[in-house]
Amino acid sequence: MPLSWDQPIMEELRMVEEEIIRNTRSDEPLLTEIAMHAVSSGGKRMRPGIALLSFKAVGGTDLQKTVMVAAAFELIHSATLVHDDINDGAHTRRGTIAAYRKYGTQRALIAGDFLFVRGFRLGGLIQSEDVVEMVAEACSQMAESEMLQTVVEHDVALPFETYIRIITGKTAKPIEASAQVGTYLGGGTLDQIAGMSSFGLNIGLAFQIVDDILDISGKEKDIGKKRGMDIFDGKANLPLLIAMQDHYPNSDRLRKIYEKDEKTEEEVEEAITIVKSTDALEVAMNHARDLQHKSLKGLETLPESEFKDALRLLADTVLMRDR
Ligand code: IPE
Ligand code: IPE
Ligand code: MG
Ligand code: MG
Repeated sequence: MPLSWDQPIMEELRMVEEEIIRNTRSDEPLLTEIAMHAVSSGGKRMRPGIALLSFKAVGGTDLQKTVMVAAAFELIHSATLVHDDINDGAHTRRGTIAAYRKYGTQRALIAGDFLFVRGFRLGGLIQSEDVVEMVAEACSQMAESEMLQTVVEHDVALPFETYIRIITGKTAKPIEASAQVGTYLGGGTLDQIAGMSSFGLNIGLAFQIVDDILDISGKEKDIGKKRGMDIFDGKANLPLLIAMQDHYPNSDRLRKIYEKDEKTEEEVEEAITIVKSTDALEVAMNHARDLQHKSLKGLETLPESEFKDALRLLADTVLMRDR
């Protein structure tokens, strides 16, 4: 059993890192600087990791293409984080100052576009229409969900189904695409591609629910971003939506705070305390656990290997993570 999910692919992840850096260079030094700020501040590299492990788990051998696509996923992901922080008014990201806070919104928008284009170009260079289609589909759904999320902002009675639709597009689809593309490039069977898509989708949903939980109960030095941002922004967040239901104690006060356009730090802290005083974090974690179990079913299509073990470990880490 590997010690961590990335242990069997350390060398490959190092190659991905080089590919990412190569693709952040531009002729404009300030653009390179902002792009580097975004990619080199220490993300978990989970999307490249899933692509590489899926590829290896089905016996893939043409590593170069998968390294390029894995780097493409991370470049696109980093681009969305730069833009997401502008939309969410975030302070910190990956343990350091958010790009737009350091360089200004105008420049961060340009750098996000640049990272996105460089990622998409890199994915396109392997000349597979299927791969371009899979990545484009995930990115389109991400945009749709990000839009939907703005439409339902401050909605205190957001239906569970709408919440799931949002997190499917904004987080689970790109993770699904990483698993799907990795399996496809590794020469996986149709059955394995379907199984790994389901693994990626379900672990992606669990991942976002845990992100929501960490927004309320995480430590800022671990998560590398400010706590309580979803409450502050009135963004869809599962534990919060659960605790705002009528039958929960103090739910009326919680709804009042969540609905407000402007909130003080004290109000955000009060809301966090209310959510923590209920079982909402536990109920949300149970949802994440169910989704994790569902994701493991997808792995059944794979032969036993250290890469499959690493994917199991990754699925465990998603639930136990503190960052
Ligand atoms: C952050 O993703 C955005 C979400 C989908 C919750 P990660 O938590 O994977 O961010 P990094 O890449 O490790 O910084
Ligand atoms: C991120 O969702 C989804 C993206 C597509 C970037 P969040 O807004 O919850 O991510 P964090 O908490 O800022 O990392
Ligand atoms: Mg955000
Ligand atoms: Mg979040």
